Amino acid sequence: MKSLVLDVQNVGKGFGGLRAIDNICFQLFKGEILSVIGPNGAGKTTLFNCLSGFYQPDEGAILLGGKSIVGKKPYQICCLGMARTFQNIRLFNHLSLLDNVLVADSNHHRTSILGILFRTSEYQKFQHLAKERAMKWLSFVGIEGDLRMKAGHLSYGNQRRLEIARALATDPQVILLDEPGAGLNPSEIGGMIDLISKMRTIGITVILIEHHMKVVMDISDRILVLDHGEELAVGTPEEIRKHPQVIKAYLGGSEKKGGSS
Ligand SMILES: Nc1ncnc2c1ncn2[C@@H]1O[C@H](COP(=O)(O)OP(=O)(O)OP(=O)(O)O)[C@@H](O)[C@H]1O
Ligand SMILES: [Mg+2]
Repeated sequence: MKSLVLDVQNVGKGFGGLRAIDNICFQLFKGEILSVIGPNGAGKTTLFNCLSGFYQPDEGAILLGGKSIVGKKPYQICCLGMARTFQNIRLFNHLSLLDNVLVADSNHHRTSILGILFRTSEYQKFQHLAKERAMKWLSFVGIEGDLRMKAGHLSYGNQRRLEIARALATDPQVILLDEPGAGLNPSEIGGMIDLISKMRTIGITVILIEHHMKVVMDISDRILVLDHGEELAVGTPEEIRKHPQVIKAYLGGSEKKGGSS
């Protein structure tokens, strides 16, 4: 039986008179890939901000692994198993690739202040294991070479991958990817499709915001289409491709339309 990971019920969020998202409902099962698409300003990032605790929804319920996460802070939600990346990459540009991932290590709370101050053997062993975990995630996303290089010196495509490695280092059940394909060239897009598919193989559930229709159509199990903050349609890629209202409002008869692709 499929296990329910995320249950989103009637979530809404407004800014002044604007309903950025309204009455959003969906359920997500382990290892599933759900894409959220819609024109610019449709409410996609607002939905991510509500799920990840950056915004508090005005109404609705969000259950992660059966537990309510509404009202929790972003780091608490992250500890409960939901990580995210950002539409505009947020890295520590002056830190090394390794340190960018180490800061997210899911086991960091196991170190003690005394251990850090006196560099006890236990602390050194912990550091060694944390470094190995970080290197594993960097390799998982396809970043190899000089891991002491500063993040700001990476190519744009690899910065997107590094941000994903950092999110994965928190050991999430669910990862929210906000336009991971933005600014990538066609070959990098192919690599991103492979990477997202690989996340599924290790049991991670993915919610993806993406304007590149090739990415969305190739890897999604289901697609949620938003329009002016509301659900316009939900279904498999095949159902969405043929959906008359989606074609009219978003695809416009061409798969390439819809924003920053
Ligand atoms: N903090 C905020 N304060 C006021 N309005 C906001 C805020 N965040 C989002 N909005 C508004 O909510 C609406 C939805 O924005 P959102 O960023 O969620 O859209 P989006 O679907 O992610 O668009 P894009 O494809 O351009 O990234 C927009 O009208 C936006 O201006
Ligand atoms: Mg957005």
